[in-house]
Amino acid sequence: MTYQFPEAEPYRIKVVEPMKMTTRSQRERILKDAHYNIFNVRAEDVYVDLLTDSGTSAMSQDQWAGIMIGDESYAGCRNWFHLQETIQDITGHKYVVPTHQGRPAENILTMIHIRPGLSALSNMFFDSTHAHVETKGGIPRDCIIDEGLDGESDHPFKGNVEIDKLEEHIKRVGREQVALILVTVTCNNNGGQPVSMANLHAVRAVADKYGLPFFLDAARFAENAFFIKLREPGYADKSLKEIAREMFSYVDGCTMSSKKDGLVNIGGFLTLNDEAKFRQAQQYLILMEGFVTYGGMAGRDLEALARGLKEVLDESYMANRVRQVRYLGNQMLDAGVPVFKPIGGHCVLLDMKRFLPHIPQDEFPCEAFCAELYLDSGTRAIGLGQLAFGGVDNETGEVIYAPLEVVRMAIPRRVYTDNHMDVVARSVIRIYERRDSMRGVKITWQPEALRHFTAHLAPL
Ligand code: F0G
Repeated sequence: MTYQFPEAEPYRIKVVEPMKMTTRSQRERILKDAHYNIFNVRAEDVYVDLLTDSGTSAMSQDQWAGIMIGDESYAGCRNWFHLQETIQDITGHKYVVPTHQGRPAENILTMIHIRPGLSALSNMFFDSTHAHVETKGGIPRDCIIDEGLDGESDHPFKGNVEIDKLEEHIKRVGREQVALILVTVTCNNNGGQPVSMANLHAVRAVADKYGLPFFLDAARFAENAFFIKLREPGYADKSLKEIAREMFSYVDGCTMSSKKDGLVNIGGFLTLNDEAKFRQAQQYLILMEGFVTYGGMAGRDLEALARGLKEVLDESYMANRVRQVRYLGNQMLDAGVPVFKPIGGHCVLLDMKRFLPHIPQDEFPCEAFCAELYLDSGTRAIGLGQLAFGGVDNETGEVIYAPLEVVRMAIPRRVYTDNHMDVVARSVIRIYERRDSMRGVKITWQPEALRHFTAHLAPL
């Protein structure tokens, strides 16, 4: 049975945010002033901003109403109890630790579990989690299935963990040398690809066999639940809440960046089932974020999040969300543009190795494309390739190549209309048609670390 997607949004617009319209010649000047690096462009000079789906959602009238009943008491505000109950109800987990976004939750989780030399295993760690494992001396290891890295594979659950690889690693280093398993749902690094329920169940079995703690990075848990409903036998008639609850039942806790599936602009949390770890987490929270009943959030933020977590599990919302991401991706696929398949939950990935095969990786095809896209339509996307993940070996001077060269177009939740998606798709298709005339870019200045954020570039 094929899923009946809605034809249009299950909401109407009450408040509008005007956008600045720029001309191509204005954008040429803006881009030049930004040293051809799209991160240096002011957001108000961007038309459709697809840099990230994180913290960019539009809140509902119910969430804005919740903002007005924020209780800003230091300890024990009512909004905290509402949020705690909501999270316990969705996850079934016992203890909740509120944080100001996802990474402090990752910091606390890794402070509790990671010791120097210990491995941490995942399908794919998101960058910030990867860094939190490493800064505690741990060794992050990705165990994603091979199909997960193949942009042309149609596997329905390309976020799945390769169970043999996971177990083989535990056996090789020894159970005592593994700190934890953490699975990212959906898997952001390969374009929001889902993890199946069967796979989560299988990871749990491995965790139990070796007595290891197992957590979810739940930033996009609701989008993952929807893909399970669409694609995994036995789930078509279950509600997103029931599916999410089952996903969470296999783990000992989760980290959450509420800036994604929390439908809010800031916020996060950590859940745990183990009381001793929870007490430890609370101590770290007080030290780094704030008191145990607000963490890094204001009372009003807690309320908006409690309401957002309920809305994100509303199937009419979610079906339209996934419909819109596909609507953008399919227009490009139909025109022959090399898009990573299948289209994921929150973004469309363009494969620059196939889009601009004549531009070598060390001439940064992603950044050349992002600059061209901005000039063409004022759209902002992000390059995840050589500039972000490649570099030069300090000792040998040889170029280290990034495995993927992709541009990510992440779609904010409830923010843009399909007309905006049409603008973006047409712009990408126009650029694809004239791709042979495009040139790469070179670096004219770069910082020592994380160069993609601030590097200066120039067209070749
Ligand atoms: N986990 C995942 C899967 C993420 O995608 C992110 C953030 C985080 C954790 C960290 O959460 O930003 O609230 O501290 N991803 C954003 C992105 C930045 O653009 O994909 P945070």
